[in-house]
Amino acid sequence: MPPRRPTRCRSRWPQLKPLTGHEAGLEAAQANCLGCHSVDDIATQPFGQGKAFSDSEVTKMINVYRAPIEEADAKAIGSYFTDAY
Ligand code: HEC
Repeated sequence: MPPRRPTRCRSRWPQLKPLTGHEAGLEAAQANCLGCHSVDDIATQPFGQGKAFSDSEVTKMINVYRAPIEEADAKAIGSYFTDAY
């Protein structure tokens, strides 16, 4: 049996799905959405129905629930969710 390598903290936390080309959106989503939501909350939403839907969810979080998300991050998050989920 090979010796067990120490587990890095990062890999023990639930993570959103990585997606090539959406590194900025993933990073922003991890930083901005997971403060209030679990990965499952987000992963079970029908973001695949289009960018307009994803953008409107992100905008709702900002306007209704006062999520402190920058405009540029919000756009990146919308594209990331549309393609990843
Ligand atoms: C400041 C806290 C906060 C942040 C940050 C936040 N949300 Fe929310 N979100 C809420 C609250 C409160 C609700 C309504 C209660 C619930 O459904 O849990 C909600 C509901 C939702 C819902 C359920 C459907 C709906 O329309 O009500 C989705 C999907 C969602 N959030 C996605 C996101 C995404 C994606 C992000 C990152 C861009 C995000 N949230 C960031 C607080 C937050």
